[in-house]
Amino acid sequence: MNKELSVFGLEGKVAVVTGAGTGIGEACARLFAKAGAAVMLSDINREACERIAADLNEQGLQARAMRLDVTSEADWAELKTALQGWKNRWDVLLNNAGIYIGGMLEDNTIAQVSKINQINIESVFLGTRTAAESMKPGSTFGRGGSIINLSSIAGLVGVPGHSIYGATKGAVRSLSKHSAVEFAKFGYGVRVNSLHPGLIETSMGDQALQEFVDIGVVANVDEAAALLKSAMIPMGRLGNVKDIAYAALFLASDASSYVTGIELTVDGGFCAA
Ligand SMILES: NC(=O)c1ccc[n+]([C@@H]2O[C@H](COP(=O)([O-])OP(=O)(O)OC[C@H]3O[C@@H](n4cnc5c(N)ncnc54)[C@H](O)[C@@H]3O)[C@@H](O)[C@H]2O)c1
Repeated sequence: MNKELSVFGLEGKVAVVTGAGTGIGEACARLFAKAGAAVMLSDINREACERIAADLNEQGLQARAMRLDVTSEADWAELKTALQGWKNRWDVLLNNAGIYIGGMLEDNTIAQVSKINQINIESVFLGTRTAAESMKPGSTFGRGGSIINLSSIAGLVGVPGHSIYGATKGAVRSLSKHSAVEFAKFGYGVRVNSLHPGLIETSMGDQALQEFVDIGVVANVDEAAALLKSAMIPMGRLGNVKDIAYAALFLASDASSYVTGIELTVDGGFCAA
Protein backbone atom coordinates (compact mmCIF):
# COMPACT_ATOMS: atom_id res chain seq x y z
CA MET A 1 0.00 0.00 0.00
CA ASN A 2 1.15 3.57 -0.72
CA LYS A 3 2.91 4.84 2.46
CA GLU A 4 0.69 7.92 2.72
CA LEU A 5 -2.39 5.67 2.96
CA SER A 6 -1.07 4.01 6.14
CA VAL A 7 -2.83 6.77 8.12
CA PHE A 8 -6.03 4.86 7.40
CA GLY A 9 -4.65 1.93 9.42
CA LEU A 10 -4.11 1.35 13.14
CA GLU A 11 -0.61 -0.15 13.11
CA GLY A 12 0.95 -0.02 16.60
CA LYS A 13 -2.18 1.30 18.29
CA VAL A 14 -4.17 -0.26 21.13
CA ALA A 15 -7.96 -0.20 20.78
CA VAL A 16 -10.69 -1.10 23.26
CA VAL A 17 -14.15 -2.11 22.04
CA THR A 18 -17.09 -2.49 24.42
CA GLY A 19 -19.97 -4.82 23.58
CA ALA A 20 -17.53 -6.66 21.29
CA GLY A 21 -19.17 -10.08 21.71
CA THR A 22 -21.50 -9.73 18.73
CA GLY A 23 -23.00 -7.35 16.14
CA ILE A 24 -21.41 -3.99 15.42
CA GLY A 25 -18.86 -4.31 18.23
CA GLU A 26 -17.57 -7.64 16.95
CA ALA A 27 -17.27 -6.30 13.39
CA CYS A 28 -15.38 -3.21 14.56
CA ALA A 29 -13.05 -5.25 16.77
CA ARG A 30 -12.26 -7.61 13.89
CA LEU A 31 -11.60 -4.74 11.46
CA PHE A 32 -9.46 -2.81 13.95
CA ALA A 33 -7.31 -5.93 14.46
CA LYS A 34 -6.99 -6.41 10.68
CA ALA A 35 -5.95 -2.75 10.44
CA GLY A 36 -3.02 -3.48 12.77
CA ALA A 37 -4.31 -2.60 16.24
CA ALA A 38 -3.93 -4.72 19.35
CA VAL A 39 -7.59 -5.00 20.34
CA MET A 40 -9.06 -5.55 23.79
CA LEU A 41 -12.50 -7.07 23.22
CA SER A 42 -14.83 -6.51 26.16
CA ASP A 43 -18.42 -7.45 26.92
CA ILE A 44 -20.60 -8.83 29.71
CA ASN A 45 -20.40 -11.97 27.54
CA ARG A 46 -16.75 -12.82 28.13
CA GLU A 47 -16.94 -16.21 26.40
CA ALA A 48 -18.00 -14.61 23.10
CA CYS A 49 -15.07 -12.20 23.28
CA GLU A 50 -12.69 -15.05 24.07
CA ARG A 51 -13.85 -16.98 21.00
CA ILE A 52 -13.39 -13.96 18.73
CA ALA A 53 -10.00 -13.07 20.25
CA ALA A 54 -8.81 -16.68 19.78
CA ASP A 55 -9.93 -16.58 16.15
CA LEU A 56 -8.06 -13.30 15.57
CA ASN A 57 -4.93 -14.63 17.29
CA GLU A 58 -5.04 -17.70 15.05
CA GLN A 59 -4.96 -15.34 12.07
CA GLY A 60 -1.75 -13.82 13.48
CA LEU A 61 -3.56 -10.69 14.74
CA GLN A 62 -3.39 -9.23 18.25
CA ALA A 63 -6.44 -9.50 20.50
CA ARG A 64 -7.40 -10.16 24.10
CA ALA A 65 -10.72 -10.59 25.86
CA MET A 66 -12.07 -9.43 29.19
CA ARG A 67 -15.40 -9.13 30.98
CA LEU A 68 -16.31 -5.47 31.26
CA ASP A 69 -19.78 -4.38 32.32
CA VAL A 70 -19.85 -0.82 31.00
CA THR A 71 -21.97 0.33 33.95
CA SER A 72 -19.32 -0.70 36.49
CA GLU A 73 -16.70 1.85 37.59
CA ALA A 74 -14.66 -1.01 39.04
CA ASP A 75 -14.59 -2.78 35.66
CA TRP A 76 -13.33 0.39 33.93
CA ALA A 77 -10.52 0.64 36.51
CA GLU A 78 -9.75 -3.03 35.86
CA LEU A 79 -9.53 -2.32 32.11
CA LYS A 80 -6.87 0.33 32.71
CA THR A 81 -4.82 -2.13 34.77
CA ALA A 82 -5.22 -4.81 32.09
CA LEU A 83 -3.96 -2.41 29.38
CA GLN A 84 -0.96 -1.42 31.52
CA GLY A 85 -0.08 -5.08 31.88
CA TRP A 86 -0.50 -5.82 28.16
CA LYS A 87 0.94 -3.09 25.89
CA ASN A 88 1.09 -0.18 28.37
CA ARG A 89 -0.65 1.88 25.71
CA TRP A 90 -4.21 3.04 24.86
CA ASP A 91 -5.14 4.94 21.68
CA VAL A 92 -8.76 4.14 20.75
CA LEU A 93 -11.99 3.56 22.70
CA LEU A 94 -15.16 2.47 20.89
CA ASN A 95 -18.07 2.94 23.32
CA ASN A 96 -20.37 0.51 21.52
CA ALA A 97 -22.21 -1.56 24.17
CA GLY A 98 -25.85 -0.68 24.46
CA ILE A 99 -29.39 -2.00 24.78
CA TYR A 100 -32.68 -1.23 23.10
CA ILE A 101 -35.98 -0.78 24.91
CA GLY A 102 -38.92 0.20 22.72
CA GLY A 103 -42.57 0.91 23.39
CA MET A 104 -45.03 3.74 23.03
CA LEU A 105 -43.96 6.55 25.37
CA GLU A 106 -47.13 6.33 27.47
CA ASP A 107 -46.39 2.63 28.13
CA ASN A 108 -42.75 3.15 29.14
CA THR A 109 -41.90 3.00 32.85
CA ILE A 110 -39.43 4.86 35.03
CA ALA A 111 -37.67 1.54 35.69
CA GLN A 112 -37.11 1.15 31.91
CA VAL A 113 -35.83 4.71 31.64
CA SER A 114 -33.40 4.22 34.54
CA LYS A 115 -32.11 0.96 33.08
CA ILE A 116 -31.56 2.28 29.55
CA ASN A 117 -29.95 5.48 30.86
CA GLN A 118 -27.53 3.44 32.92
CA ILE A 119 -26.45 1.13 30.10
CA ASN A 120 -26.56 3.56 27.16
CA ILE A 121 -25.43 6.89 28.61
CA GLU A 122 -23.90 6.54 32.09
CA SER A 123 -21.61 3.91 30.55
CA VAL A 124 -20.44 6.33 27.84
CA PHE A 125 -19.69 8.90 30.54
CA LEU A 126 -17.65 6.33 32.49
CA GLY A 127 -15.76 5.13 29.41
CA THR A 128 -15.06 8.64 28.13
CA ARG A 129 -13.84 9.76 31.55
CA THR A 130 -11.60 6.73 32.00
CA ALA A 131 -10.10 7.09 28.51
CA ALA A 132 -9.58 10.85 28.68
CA GLU A 133 -7.95 10.82 32.11
CA SER A 134 -5.52 8.10 31.03
CA MET A 135 -4.81 9.30 27.46
CA LYS A 136 -4.15 13.01 28.09
CA PRO A 137 -0.56 14.32 28.25
CA GLY A 138 1.25 13.40 31.48
CA SER A 139 -1.24 10.67 32.39
CA THR A 140 -0.92 6.84 32.52
CA PHE A 141 -0.66 6.37 28.75
CA GLY A 142 -0.26 10.01 27.75
CA ARG A 143 -0.42 9.86 23.94
CA GLY A 144 -3.88 11.31 23.28
CA GLY A 145 -6.35 9.20 21.35
CA SER A 146 -9.71 8.78 19.67
CA ILE A 147 -13.02 8.05 21.39
CA ILE A 148 -15.94 6.92 19.22
CA ASN A 149 -19.40 6.80 20.75
CA LEU A 150 -22.20 4.74 19.20
CA SER A 151 -25.27 6.91 18.98
CA SER A 152 -28.02 6.25 16.39
CA ILE A 153 -30.18 8.03 13.85
CA ALA A 154 -32.72 7.80 16.70
CA GLY A 155 -30.50 10.32 18.51
CA LEU A 156 -31.06 12.79 15.67
CA VAL A 157 -34.65 12.32 14.45
CA GLY A 158 -37.92 11.05 15.87
CA VAL A 159 -39.06 7.45 15.28
CA PRO A 160 -42.31 5.94 16.68
CA GLY A 161 -41.65 3.50 19.53
CA HIS A 162 -38.12 4.84 20.09
CA SER A 163 -38.56 7.67 22.63
CA ILE A 164 -36.54 6.42 25.58
CA TYR A 165 -33.90 4.70 23.41
CA GLY A 166 -33.60 7.82 21.23
CA ALA A 167 -33.27 10.03 24.30
CA THR A 168 -30.20 8.07 25.44
CA LYS A 169 -28.70 8.32 21.95
CA GLY A 170 -29.35 12.07 21.84
CA ALA A 171 -27.49 12.30 25.13
CA VAL A 172 -24.58 10.32 23.67
CA ARG A 173 -24.40 12.80 20.78
CA SER A 174 -24.36 15.75 23.17
CA LEU A 175 -21.83 14.24 25.59
CA SER A 176 -19.57 13.58 22.60
CA LYS A 177 -19.71 17.17 21.37
CA HIS A 178 -19.15 18.75 24.79
CA SER A 179 -16.28 16.45 25.71
CA ALA A 180 -14.74 16.89 22.23
CA VAL A 181 -14.63 20.66 22.66
CA GLU A 182 -13.43 20.49 26.27
CA PHE A 183 -10.62 18.05 25.49
CA ALA A 184 -9.52 20.04 22.42
CA LYS A 185 -9.52 23.38 24.28
CA PHE A 186 -7.55 21.93 27.18
CA GLY A 187 -4.94 20.26 24.95
CA TYR A 188 -5.74 16.62 25.78
CA GLY A 189 -5.07 15.40 22.24
CA VAL A 190 -8.19 13.27 22.65
CA ARG A 191 -10.78 13.42 19.85
CA VAL A 192 -14.42 12.45 20.47
CA ASN A 193 -16.95 11.75 17.73
CA SER A 194 -20.38 10.14 17.59
CA LEU A 195 -21.40 7.54 15.04
CA HIS A 196 -25.05 7.29 14.01
CA PRO A 197 -26.06 4.05 12.29
CA GLY A 198 -29.38 3.58 10.59
CA LEU A 199 -31.07 0.22 10.96
CA ILE A 200 -28.29 -2.39 10.94
CA GLU A 201 -28.83 -6.14 10.58
CA THR A 202 -27.96 -7.40 14.10
CA SER A 203 -30.00 -8.78 16.98
CA MET A 204 -30.74 -5.21 18.05
CA GLY A 205 -31.76 -4.33 14.49
CA ASP A 206 -34.23 -7.24 14.63
CA GLN A 207 -35.63 -5.86 17.89
CA ALA A 208 -36.15 -2.46 16.28
CA LEU A 209 -37.99 -4.01 13.31
CA GLN A 210 -40.18 -6.03 15.71
CA GLU A 211 -41.02 -2.80 17.52
CA PHE A 212 -42.79 -1.46 14.40
CA VAL A 213 -44.95 -4.60 14.52
CA ASP A 214 -45.56 -4.35 18.28
CA ILE A 215 -46.83 -0.76 18.10
CA GLY A 216 -49.06 -1.58 15.12
CA VAL A 217 -47.31 0.31 12.29
CA VAL A 218 -47.00 -2.88 10.17
CA ALA A 219 -48.24 -6.49 10.38
CA ASN A 220 -44.87 -8.29 10.47
CA VAL A 221 -41.11 -7.73 10.36
CA ASP A 222 -40.88 -8.37 6.62
CA GLU A 223 -43.33 -5.53 6.06
CA ALA A 224 -41.31 -3.37 8.44
CA ALA A 225 -38.11 -3.98 6.47
CA ALA A 226 -39.91 -3.39 3.16
CA LEU A 227 -41.38 -0.11 4.40
CA LEU A 228 -37.97 1.14 5.52
CA LYS A 229 -36.30 0.17 2.24
CA SER A 230 -38.98 1.55 -0.05
CA ALA A 231 -40.06 4.71 1.76
CA MET A 232 -37.44 5.77 4.32
CA ILE A 233 -33.94 4.73 3.21
CA PRO A 234 -32.97 6.42 -0.09
CA MET A 235 -30.35 3.77 -0.83
CA GLY A 236 -33.05 1.10 -0.54
CA ARG A 237 -31.29 -1.36 1.77
CA LEU A 238 -30.71 -1.96 5.46
CA GLY A 239 -27.18 -1.47 6.78
CA ASN A 240 -24.72 -4.20 7.68
CA VAL A 241 -22.10 -4.30 10.39
CA LYS A 242 -19.24 -3.66 7.95
CA ASP A 243 -20.85 -0.37 6.88
CA ILE A 244 -20.40 0.79 10.47
CA ALA A 245 -16.98 -0.78 11.01
CA TYR A 246 -15.48 1.09 8.03
CA ALA A 247 -16.75 4.41 9.39
CA ALA A 248 -15.48 3.55 12.89
CA LEU A 249 -12.05 2.72 11.44
CA PHE A 250 -11.86 6.15 9.80
CA LEU A 251 -12.68 7.86 13.12
CA ALA A 252 -10.21 5.64 15.00
CA SER A 253 -7.35 6.23 12.57
CA ASP A 254 -5.03 9.20 12.11
CA ALA A 255 -6.79 9.86 8.79
CA SER A 256 -9.38 11.70 10.92
CA SER A 257 -6.81 13.57 13.06
CA TYR A 258 -8.53 16.97 12.39
CA VAL A 259 -12.01 15.54 13.05
CA THR A 260 -13.56 16.01 16.47
CA GLY A 261 -17.09 16.64 17.74
CA ILE A 262 -18.81 15.45 14.56
CA GLU A 263 -21.90 13.28 14.23
CA LEU A 264 -21.25 10.80 11.42
CA THR A 265 -24.44 9.29 10.03
CA VAL A 266 -24.11 5.92 8.28
CA ASP A 267 -27.71 5.35 7.28
CA GLY A 268 -28.11 5.00 3.49
CA GLY A 269 -29.35 8.60 3.36
CA PHE A 270 -32.18 8.20 5.94
CA CYS A 271 -31.47 11.46 7.76
CA ALA A 272 -30.84 13.43 4.57
CA ALA A 273 -34.24 12.61 3.09
N1 LIG B 1 -28.36 -2.49 15.17
C1 LIG B 1 -28.85 -1.29 14.90
O1 LIG B 1 -29.77 -1.15 14.07
C2 LIG B 1 -28.29 -0.07 15.56
C3 LIG B 1 -28.66 1.20 15.06
C4 LIG B 1 -28.16 2.34 15.64
C5 LIG B 1 -27.31 2.25 16.73
N2 LIG B 1 -26.95 1.03 17.22
C6 LIG B 1 -26.06 1.01 18.38
O2 LIG B 1 -24.90 0.26 18.09
C7 LIG B 1 -24.43 -0.40 19.27
C8 LIG B 1 -24.29 -1.90 19.00
O3 LIG B 1 -25.52 -2.40 18.52
P1 LIG B 1 -25.73 -3.90 18.01
O4 LIG B 1 -26.82 -3.85 17.03
O5 LIG B 1 -24.43 -4.50 17.66
O6 LIG B 1 -26.30 -4.56 19.37
P2 LIG B 1 -26.34 -6.09 19.82
O7 LIG B 1 -27.51 -6.18 20.76
O8 LIG B 1 -26.25 -6.99 18.66
O9 LIG B 1 -24.99 -6.23 20.69
C9 LIG B 1 -24.79 -5.46 21.85
C10 LIG B 1 -23.63 -6.03 22.65
O10 LIG B 1 -23.51 -5.22 23.85
C11 LIG B 1 -23.33 -6.07 24.96
N3 LIG B 1 -23.78 -5.43 26.19
C12 LIG B 1 -25.05 -5.17 26.58
N4 LIG B 1 -25.05 -4.62 27.81
C13 LIG B 1 -23.75 -4.52 28.19
C14 LIG B 1 -23.09 -4.04 29.35
N5 LIG B 1 -23.78 -3.56 30.41
N6 LIG B 1 -21.74 -4.06 29.39
C15 LIG B 1 -21.04 -4.57 28.36
N7 LIG B 1 -21.59 -5.06 27.25
C16 LIG B 1 -22.94 -5.03 27.16
C17 LIG B 1 -24.14 -7.32 24.61
O11 LIG B 1 -23.72 -8.43 25.41
C18 LIG B 1 -23.87 -7.48 23.13
O12 LIG B 1 -22.70 -8.26 22.91
C19 LIG B 1 -25.45 -0.08 20.37
O13 LIG B 1 -24.98 1.02 21.13
C20 LIG B 1 -26.68 0.33 19.58
O14 LIG B 1 -27.53 1.17 20.31
C21 LIG B 1 -27.42 -0.13 16.66
